[in-house]
Amino acid sequence: MAKEDDEQEYLFKIVVIGDSAVGKSNLLSRFARDEFDLHSKATVGVEFQTQVMEVDGKEVKAQVWDTAGQERFRAVTSAYYRGAVGALIVYDISRRTTFDSVKRWLEELNTHCDTTVARMLVGNKCDLENIRDVSIDDGKSVAEEEGLFFIETSALDSTNVIASFEIVIREIY
Ligand code: GTP
Ligand code: MG
Repeated sequence: MAKEDDEQEYLFKIVVIGDSAVGKSNLLSRFARDEFDLHSKATVGVEFQTQVMEVDGKEVKAQVWDTAGQERFRAVTSAYYRGAVGALIVYDISRRTTFDSVKRWLEELNTHCDTTVARMLVGNKCDLENIRDVSIDDGKSVAEEEGLFFIETSALDSTNVIASFEIVIREIY
């Protein structure tokens, strides 16, 4: 009934994509359960978590989907992206190759979703400043070129994790 309709209206599917081991699953567990695992295993298939948040005094449900960065562990791609209204494209600031892959992930996203999907480029592991391999300026310029929001996060020390999801949800909402 009316209430259910309201609830439906504020359920937002967000997909998290990026190379293996950039920290997608840890960003999600930090966001949804405030947990971090130093020895997390590579994701196999698809997982999702629903997290209730308050945006401008309204309750919204973020349903965040996480899949494997490794091709051989990935599930059906079209189903993963179906209905998504937001996307986090994640790389690891200490591994340049994961940043170079961003364009490829964007191509995949564009193949499956239209341009109205809110997109955030996320440079994760910003706690690893001493072994940084991608500058903040490099992140920013790719984000500008591609029309993405940009943020650096750390699932380890919690920097900007909630903010990254909040910005995407605000944009959708
Ligand atoms: P796939 O499931 O294979 O696609 O990988 P993933 O992107 O989900 O990576 P995952 O979250 O499993 O993290 C990979 C490794 O990076 C783990 O050892 C994590 O502990 C570590 N890690 C994740 N986030 C951070 C972070 O912000 N800082 C640091 N220093 N390590 C992190
Ligand atoms: Mg994972």
